[in-house]
Amino acid sequence: MAAAVITPPSVLFVCLGNICRSPLAEAAFRHRAAIAGLAPSPAAVSADSAGTGDWHIGHPPDPRAIAEAARHGIDIAGYRGRQVARTDFARFTHILALDAQNLADLRAIAPGGTPASLALLLDLVPGMAGQPVADPYWGDAADFARTWEQVDTAAQALVEMLRS
Ligand code: 4NP
Repeated sequence: MAAAVITPPSVLFVCLGNICRSPLAEAAFRHRAAIAGLAPSPAAVSADSAGTGDWHIGHPPDPRAIAEAARHGIDIAGYRGRQVARTDFARFTHILALDAQNLADLRAIAPGGTPASLALLLDLVPGMAGQPVADPYWGDAADFARTWEQVDTAAQALVEMLRS
């Protein structure tokens, strides 16, 4: 009998612009996964982020997001924005939206019968199901710090989920 093929988990974080929330979520997850021993091996787990909008394709993250990640010792200056694509639904096992509008936009473009699990990121955090990650784009450094706390809490929950 052929050995079962176990697809390594692959996670895509999706917000609107892919310059604030989802790059921070990707960075927090990569960091927490590395600490937990799930990364950097590509066979263990992979991660990416994207936006539902197209305004920031090819752009680096917002400088305030770069600064917030740097406060946690993480360099995201090399990340580049991209728009989510229908092919992502076949490439990723878990697609996590940062807010309800992002989730609705993803559902609107998801090919029928997609095997990817589609959910709100904060659904992973006990007591926070259904809540959005705060959008810091119109805010200040304190808003970015709050966003980091939320995505980092979710990243820890996601790592635990993938390990179990
Ligand atoms: P993000 O934040 O979706 O967390 O990357 C935003 C980025 C850009 C815009 C809004 C939110 N914008 O209006 O360009």
